Amino acid sequence: MAFVGLKSIVAAAAIAQFAGLASAAEYWQSFNSSINPLNITLPNIPQTTSIDPATECTYYNPDPSLFTVDPTQWPTSWDIATSNGMNTSAEFQNFYNSIDWANAPNISVRTLAADGSIDMTGYDSQNDPDCWWTSSTCTVPKLKDVNADIYECPEPETWGLTYDDGPNCSHNAFYDYLQEQDLKASMFYIGSNVVDWPYGAMRGVRDGHHISSHTWSHRMMTTLTNQELVAEFYYTQKAIHLATGLTPRYWRAPYGDVDDRVRWIATQMNLTSILWDYDTNDWSAGTTETVQQVQASYDEFIQMGSNGSMTTHGNIVLTHEIANVTMSLALTNLPNIMKNYKHVINVATCANITYPYMERTVAFRTFDEYLSQNTSAAGAASSIVGSNTNGAVTATGKSATQSSATSGASIVRAISPAFLLPLLLVLL
Ligand SMILES: *[C@@H]1O[C@H](CO)[C@@H](O)[C@H](O)[C@H]1NC(C)=O
Ligand SMILES: *[C@@H]1O[C@H](CO)[C@@H](O)[C@H](O)[C@H]1NC(C)=O
Ligand SMILES: *[C@@H]1O[C@H](CO)[C@@H](O)[C@H](O)[C@H]1NC(C)=O
Ligand SMILES: *[C@@H]1O[C@H](CO)[C@@H](O)[C@H](O)[C@H]1NC(C)=O
Ligand SMILES: *[C@@H]1O[C@H](CO)[C@@H](O)[C@H](O)[C@H]1NC(C)=O
Ligand SMILES: *[C@@H]1O[C@H](CO)[C@@H](O)[C@H](O)[C@H]1NC(C)=O
Ligand SMILES: *[C@@H]1O[C@H](CO)[C@@H](O)[C@H](O)[C@H]1NC(C)=O
Ligand SMILES: *[C@@H]1O[C@H](CO)[C@@H](O)[C@H](O)[C@H]1NC(C)=O
Ligand SMILES: *[C@@H]1O[C@H](CO)[C@@H](O)[C@H](O)[C@H]1NC(C)=O
Ligand SMILES: *[C@@H]1O[C@H](CO)[C@@H](O)[C@H](O)[C@H]1NC(C)=O
Ligand SMILES: [Zn+2]
Repeated sequence: MAFVGLKSIVAAAAIAQFAGLASAAEYWQSFNSSINPLNITLPNIPQTTSIDPATECTYYNPDPSLFTVDPTQWPTSWDIATSNGMNTSAEFQNFYNSIDWANAPNISVRTLAADGSIDMTGYDSQNDPDCWWTSSTCTVPKLKDVNADIYECPEPETWGLTYDDGPNCSHNAFYDYLQEQDLKASMFYIGSNVVDWPYGAMRGVRDGHHISSHTWSHRMMTTLTNQELVAEFYYTQKAIHLATGLTPRYWRAPYGDVDDRVRWIATQMNLTSILWDYDTNDWSAGTTETVQQVQASYDEFIQMGSNGSMTTHGNIVLTHEIANVTMSLALTNLPNIMKNYKHVINVATCANITYPYMERTVAFRTFDEYLSQNTSAAGAASSIVGSNTNGAVTATGKSATQSSATSGASIVRAISPAFLLPLLLVLL
């Protein structure tokens, strides 16, 4: 195979990549992308323009002038991110070894029970020594020097708008609605979805949403080894960067399954966890819950916005772009959410996170800037500072590292039928 020779060149380059960096957390500086997040034009193909789910979800090869995804260079879609030999690549090993493991906590890897649920046998849930959310909903780490979770919007009467499991190939009608209403959400993207549907991620950035990581393969994170965790984070960061030119500084654990070992590794990669305090269970509509039950949860949370429950703080609500029913529920309920809450905003803005990405090219409004409806540039009422030619985002000055991040070569992709199979898998 032609790749044998190439691999040793890549290996040599990878050693050079991390050798020059001052700390492991600077890994993102060696990522490549030809996308300028300040000037995104989506390719004009039926998948990006249609609102018919079947048309939207017809597989496409990305325009090679934007990027290519060579399946030999990525983990297998929906498989743990060490798959496809990724954990043996020089690039990955060098990054993994750049982390200071001497300080890593000695917390056990959890196991799954026969029914697929997490096994908590033997865990001291009373004292919760590992701040394990699944056991206790703990969000304040017991371990020091570990980033604490964000789980609510502190501002009163504020609905923290978050959607998990995208980018979904069929999200055009949903994203169109958000755009019409000038709503900016926090979107938690799965790495496997990003490489399968990269234009969906491009659109998320173009529309001014706050993009965060939702891991590569959507596993219970506490059941993965340290190496698997690093790979889940690393390849998702790399995929989001390839498709958008931006690398998230925030992530959300699938099922909320995070403990201090997982948080410690995320912290080494400069990632902070965003959880939620209200869960609509919308993903289960039509399966383990009826649509009416999910609607009842929505109704309850909506009512809280105007009945005095939210006068001292806001919330962060867990919802999904995973299926037609969850996106339809969003469209049905957003008008009412906006009526009952003073503010319906993404987490970056409600938490004053000006720079939610490693790159400082894109800045979000602080809560005060959002309140003052700073319209010094287009994109009125949006949570984004300023605008670009698409009315979404603006530069706040390129950092020295940014120029290298945007000048890299794209990766060669050979599309194989095997790569298409995971598209048929149903998540959850
Ligand atoms: C990690 O993120 C912080 C911002 O929270 C930034 O100041 C710091 O430079 C980052 N560290 C690295 C090594 O990139
Ligand atoms: C970025 O591109 C350069 C040049 O093609 C390559 O050597 C390097 O390995 C790439 N970086 C990553 C993280 O893949
Ligand atoms: C934005 O990108 C388009 C091509 O997609 C290009 O023609 C245009 O010059 C770019 N504008 C800026 C300001 O970079
Ligand atoms: C890579 O991952 C596989 C599966 O988890 C494991 O068996 C193997 O030992 C790992 N290889 C290295 C070099 O860490
Ligand atoms: C980690 O904890 C296990 C018990 O859970 C113990 O057997 C082992 O010695 C510990 N390792 C270190 C390096 O402390
Ligand atoms: C507000 O509505 C919620 C949800 O229906 C309810 O649980 C709560 O008791 C109500 N609070 C007040 C003050 O009425
Ligand atoms: C995307 O949404 C469609 C419904 O339009 C659904 O059938 C599909 O499973 C979703 N894809 C993923 C990967 O979640
Ligand atoms: C749900 O699917 C139908 C067609 O199957 C489509 O017309 C509708 O726009 C979809 N809803 C959303 C929110 O994508
Ligand atoms: C955001 O900034 C405003 C103004 O400084 C402040 O009042 C508010 O408490 C801040 N919110 C958070 C979550 O830090
Ligand atoms: C509006 O935002 C811009 C860019 O952040 C800032 O320079 C300007 O001072 C802001 N104006 C007001 C009135 O807040
Ligand atoms: Zn999820």
